[in-house]
Amino acid sequence: MTVTLGEGRTPLLEVPRLSARFGIELWLKWEGANPTGSFKDRGMSVAATRAVESGAHTLVCASTGNTAASCAAYAARAGMHATIVVVRGAAAGPKLAQVRAVGGEIVEIEGTFSDAFAHAEEIGSQPGHVLVNSTNPNRIEGQRSAALEILEQLGAAPDVLTLPYGGGGNTRAYALGFGERLPRFHPVQAADRAGTIASAIRIVEPVHRADVEEIVARSGGSIVTVDDEQIVAARDLLGREEGVFCEPASAAGIAALEHGTARAGERVVCVVTGHGLKAAA
Ligand code: F0G
Repeated sequence: MTVTLGEGRTPLLEVPRLSARFGIELWLKWEGANPTGSFKDRGMSVAATRAVESGAHTLVCASTGNTAASCAAYAARAGMHATIVVVRGAAAGPKLAQVRAVGGEIVEIEGTFSDAFAHAEEIGSQPGHVLVNSTNPNRIEGQRSAALEILEQLGAAPDVLTLPYGGGGNTRAYALGFGERLPRFHPVQAADRAGTIASAIRIVEPVHRADVEEIVARSGGSIVTVDDEQIVAARDLLGREEGVFCEPASAAGIAALEHGTARAGERVVCVVTGHGLKAAA
């Protein structure tokens, strides 16, 4: 049985005003339209389904908030328990509210995201527990569906793909999905990874860094770094120009367009990863 909440098949939105502004053909893959409001649901459906098949009773993750909300929701849907490890004060309130609403258990620790991850790995190694961070291959497998949808929606791969870069799992998933037809990848990270306002990507040590660097090189792209001011400006631009309200981290791909990541006339897909209702302010 598939554990699903109706994830995926999200809109690919043409955005004429932003296209004109940047002199490109820009499309948004609007992942805030997923059931818990972020792209995490794609992989969580597959990971939860496999966990049920394995006879597990508990899904475990470390999270900056969105994986948490998704993990808890899919666990509830599967009749399982969810144990969520977060750094105290690091996840946006609405995301924790999502976890509580579906009965997830929140464990708060002091330290960094890496510390939370280590703690979750420990809990996840117990019998009956499954770790559902992006190191779980079922997560990546599920998330690659977004690239397949873009191929279907556009009829071909775009020239350029921009998306936020936290741990790098989503970059890996898109690369898998596009296969041989890689667009130029421009994962976008916060200049201050440790303290950025974009709490979803407040991760100092990306767990998939080596893979991300390999994908970026193979695709002829680059890793782009943007500061908080640029992230917030991009978030506001998306809202005011196109009516799309996303959380700050999710606007990173738009912020990167100010850096000339795309050449005139190119077809660009920007992955807008999570809904603005998830942000505290
Ligand atoms: N955008 C949003 C809204 C996210 O929540 C995340 C990651 C990313 C982008 C980055 O994706 O890690 O695959 O490069 N959020 C994780 C979480 C860390 O716990 O929710 P990535």
